Amino acid sequence: MGSFYITTPIYYVNDVPHIGHAYTTITADAVARWHRLLGDETMFLTGTDEHGLKIQRSAEANGVTPQEQADVTSQRFRETWASLDVTPDQFIRTTEPRHHTATQKLLTQIKDNGYIYKDSYAGHYCVGCEAYYNEDDLVDGNCPTHERPVEWLEEDNYFFALSKMEDALRAWLDTGSVIPEGKRSEALGIIETGLEDVSISRTSIDWGVRVPWDDDHVFYVWYDALINYLTAIGFGSENDELQRWWPESHHIVGKDILRFHCVYWPAMLIAAGMEPPKNVHVHGFLLLGGKKLSKTGLTQIAPADLTEEFGVDGLRYHLLRDVSFGPDSDFSYEGMISRYNTDLANTLGNLLSRVATVVHKKCGGVGTAPNPDSPLAEAAAESYTATAQGWENITPSIALEATWKLIRQTNAYLEQHEPWKMEEGSAEVHQVMGDALEVLRIAAVLTSPGLTSSSQKIWSAIGLDGEVADQRLPAAAGWGGYPAGLDVRKGDPLFPRLKPRE
Ligand code: MSP
Repeated sequence: MGSFYITTPIYYVNDVPHIGHAYTTITADAVARWHRLLGDETMFLTGTDEHGLKIQRSAEANGVTPQEQADVTSQRFRETWASLDVTPDQFIRTTEPRHHTATQKLLTQIKDNGYIYKDSYAGHYCVGCEAYYNEDDLVDGNCPTHERPVEWLEEDNYFFALSKMEDALRAWLDTGSVIPEGKRSEALGIIETGLEDVSISRTSIDWGVRVPWDDDHVFYVWYDALINYLTAIGFGSENDELQRWWPESHHIVGKDILRFHCVYWPAMLIAAGMEPPKNVHVHGFLLLGGKKLSKTGLTQIAPADLTEEFGVDGLRYHLLRDVSFGPDSDFSYEGMISRYNTDLANTLGNLLSRVATVVHKKCGGVGTAPNPDSPLAEAAAESYTATAQGWENITPSIALEATWKLIRQTNAYLEQHEPWKMEEGSAEVHQVMGDALEVLRIAAVLTSPGLTSSSQKIWSAIGLDGEVADQRLPAAAGWGGYPAGLDVRKGDPLFPRLKPRE
């Protein structure tokens, strides 16, 4: 038992939640649920990133104030997560006063340590983009996006002395803090090309956190956003719980924001005299037909479109099992149908319905305790070890595969012994059913981080009281926990088979 702190990126409120966002968030949710089963003190944080030009612009386009835009969209994220059984311990919004306080405190600390200075910034500026361009980016002297002439502009900016942080960052990366290894090398590669100081404030916009020592400036959105991870655990407030959570901090991020989380963020913390995060886990993109979801019209796929057909657990299972953590992964409707039918309907759902049917036909509807020497006892122990390892490493697909191996072995065990052909009430049939019920009990516990409601249905169907989520590992995975004498319920199929839509 210990503490465990896990975060998702905070989502921009110019966009509505889509399945790419759901992927990151469900992963973090399931990992947090696993740690709660272990009895760890767990803090799972998600939220919304509400400042910056992008939000200001999108509010203008919608004819509302940035705050109104943020309020509405932030609420949509909150509701979407609730509808997907995502249960964060905190939902943070960067417009909260506590976040302004924390941001100002951290950046003041960095400045006091000598890593922030003011300088004028000169460059080719596109007003359309409100961004500077290098000479090389221009197309015939024009902005590459707006194809209009750029202006030569000089602005006073505050700069963060990132160039001084190279050695410290290398040392942090050497501790294996960025996972997987390929992404760690990518972060090292960024440092090897040489780090330049970065501009962290703007005078041209005012939707942001004000620079506390200079009223004309607000911090550039990323330099407030990253600090949300500290705000949530009380940095800058009277309830500072950094000691409790920060040493066990795990950030889950997509590969597009690797530079911010694996270079800028640890550098800011080191410059402030603090510890960098323990781990940054970087995942790839969900692709549709080989294209990043957010680059196709298909960011229109809202999670609700899929849960209608597959159920919340069907979507959660698909994202956790089929999108392995690390590489990019193609998302397809056909793949989803096939995974659902194979693993959920034909394997887990089938095991429950077979067992319930035989217990009713041959054992009077009452369960038996497992055989201590069952061959499945060893399979269950192996499955637990591998499942635990998978969740520990934040590789849900590996964890789930290890759990499903046990479920498949149990189906094979039933096929081998054919309890449906055994004599009613015989010692033999009770023994086989006791073993299978015990696997269902263990499977309910091990699948509960992913299949939030189906795991509870299994738990209740085999006659157990209380909440599966209240069980504690490793004890709850030990062979022999299923007691004799419980009423086993025969219900509707847990996962009805699906036919692909037209
Ligand atoms: N606001 C910043 C993060 C600040 S964290 C201090 C941001 N927001 S975002 O809404 O654009 O993206 C949030 C996360 O969603 C990122 O990790 C991004 O990688 C992830 N995804 C967006 N589209 C995705 C896919 N198609 N597939 C997988 N993840 C995707 O960046």
